[in-house]
Amino acid sequence: MLAYDIINKTKRGTALTEEELRFFVSGVVDGSVTDAQAAAWLMAVCMNGLSPQETSALTMAMRDSGDVLDLSAIAGVKVDKHSTGGVGDKTSLILAPIVAACGGRMPKMSGRGLGHTGGTIDKLESIPGFSTDIGFDRFVETVNKAGFAIVAQSGHLVPADKKLYALRDHTATVDSIPLICSSIMSKKLATGADAILLDVKMGSGAFMKTEADAVRLGEAMVETARHVGRQCRAVVTDMDAPLGFCIGNAIEVEEAVQVLRGEVGGTLGQLCLDLAAHALSMSDFGTTEECRKTALSAVESGAALERFAQMIDLQGGDAAITEDPSRLPQPKYSHVVRAARSGSLSTLHSEEIGLAAMSLGAGRVNKGDSLDLSAGIRLHCERGTRLSEGDAIATLYSSSVTDFSAAEQRVKNAVLLTDSAPQVHSTVRCVVE
Ligand code: URA
Repeated sequence: MLAYDIINKTKRGTALTEEELRFFVSGVVDGSVTDAQAAAWLMAVCMNGLSPQETSALTMAMRDSGDVLDLSAIAGVKVDKHSTGGVGDKTSLILAPIVAACGGRMPKMSGRGLGHTGGTIDKLESIPGFSTDIGFDRFVETVNKAGFAIVAQSGHLVPADKKLYALRDHTATVDSIPLICSSIMSKKLATGADAILLDVKMGSGAFMKTEADAVRLGEAMVETARHVGRQCRAVVTDMDAPLGFCIGNAIEVEEAVQVLRGEVGGTLGQLCLDLAAHALSMSDFGTTEECRKTALSAVESGAALERFAQMIDLQGGDAAITEDPSRLPQPKYSHVVRAARSGSLSTLHSEEIGLAAMSLGAGRVNKGDSLDLSAGIRLHCERGTRLSEGDAIATLYSSSVTDFSAAEQRVKNAVLLTDSAPQVHSTVRCVVE
């Protein structure tokens, strides 16, 4: 078998066999397929796509390129949730304790942020003492005790994705549905959960700019999971505007605590209850409607916040931040951005807001960059809010940047104020199952 022939087949739109995909993926990992060959094949996939059968076979070949976790030491249905990446997306920090408080089990491996999107691991590392590298046995023990644990993905999972993703990043081949699907699903399948809940983002801050593309990605991922006998649902959600009011690291943990304290009336709280309802119903706790009520009760009773504190404690962090968020890293400097005119906030472009937060030190330009965990943005308005000239749009925070002009400009670019009120859509656009 030759990598050359495999590239040629995909270039001509001829389907690859499972054997050919396994040969290619293992060659990418051991170096016998060169970077040039891998990049050429990725571009052929971008142009011609892959069939559902090829996408599933690629996913499984990638999953098997490294360790596959055995979570059988955790009792009950293990449900994992994955978001395709967004701005202000702290749903895992809220959803997992809610699911745990209702009796569900959520062992989670998460990633770090890059560019305009944040990462759950960076957010958690803003909690003093918190460790996201606790080893497999302690991970299992934490899930068995608290109902959930959140750790950084181990270096031995899906090495094929690390190589392919780095090449995609350099060759403009990220935005291909079969490649995104196999990248995400290989990692989810390697982490061993029984059920997978996907939050597929659509809009300005997401990979998928339109609802139609987000649905196509959701369908591809659900179908791939089904091929390999896993339960899977994809909830397509809006990422045209940031999720919630806070963007950064410590500031997002603070907002998560607020929601767990019962402030569930806003977009973020409602989305977390919806996602919790899906996660619980996939774990056999009832219908989605019944599970939503159970999830709400877990917040109202304080049980979900208690679970969050318990998990923080078990992972070595300062659980008192759930009572006193001022124990989180605090910024040295701040700056308020004000409305230049009166009007209704009709656009709040999330990618621009994410890039503004990044420029304050909250995000990474390059992999491996260090972060200012106190940096971020607090929005004072959401889509539909009526503002008068001079009203505060956002407060910018940083301990590493004193000149706020670049970030201020980005926030101003992100905002469109109009005379008429905009149409505001619900965050959940549709569910694919
Ligand atoms: N997230 C991933 O893990 N992989 C992709 O290809 C895109 C988003």
